[in-house]
Amino acid sequence: MRLVFLGAPGAGKGTQAQRLAAQEQIPHISTGEILRESVTRGTPLGLQAKGYMDSGKLVPDEVVIGLVREKLTSPECARGYILDGFPRTVAQAEALDRILTETGSPGLDHVISFDVPQEEIVRRLSGRRSCSRCQTVYHIEHDPPKHEGVCDKCGGRLVQRADDKPETVLARLRVFDQQTRPLVEYYQKRGLLQRVDATGSIDQVYARLLAVVHATRMA
Ligand code: AP5
Repeated sequence: MRLVFLGAPGAGKGTQAQRLAAQEQIPHISTGEILRESVTRGTPLGLQAKGYMDSGKLVPDEVVIGLVREKLTSPECARGYILDGFPRTVAQAEALDRILTETGSPGLDHVISFDVPQEEIVRRLSGRRSCSRCQTVYHIEHDPPKHEGVCDKCGGRLVQRADDKPETVLARLRVFDQQTRPLVEYYQKRGLLQRVDATGSIDQVYARLLAVVHATRMA
């Protein structure tokens, strides 16, 4: 199963990807998560990415493309993967096409677009908390941890992401509209796009996602 998850910031891509990847036992490749980890560790990649991320802008294409190329050519991706947050520009989508051709991959099975109205996105992002150690994502109302402020999985401290401040969220939404939304048409033209209504509970969205994924398997 080779999937791309597309959607506005806070649409729930990461939450759904985490769950489906665990069920299917395939890697969940989140470029945002890889970049945040690099920022925390202070690596050269992190130092390069930090300024862009803090202001809600996209990290330059060549940086992110190199990172994804390395992941997709590794043996752990041989059985499939979920790309979450990549591609995000037409240049990244074209680069992904090239990587798939070069590596002899049969290509993507689906690009899933998670659709949520903007008011809901703002609610989701303002209540999001992530584990500072293992990056598991929670929501203070919709998906709270068992003990406030503590990760259920590893006991790490839960923190609010630096780019979830209201002014940065607005910048990220603008960037999504200008640079990422055109990918809906890009993948629609190639017959790969599937839309999932991402409103409602996490379980409801997951059921809709499974219906799309399973429908293709049966076909
Ligand atoms: P990234 O980490 O990819 O951020 P994003 O795309 O803005 O997406 P989010 O992680 O904010 O949201 P999500 O859709 O995963 O939602 P989640 O599941 O967490 O990127 C961050 C930055 O890195 C970018 O701004 C950029 O600078 C850089 N970057 C990354 N990739 C790049 C690329 N390819 N090119 C260039 N730069 C790149 O859910 C949100 C909250 O809602 C959570 O609290 C969750 O618990 C809750 N929730 C989820 N589903 C539901 C539901 N159904 N009901 C109620 N609550 C829900």
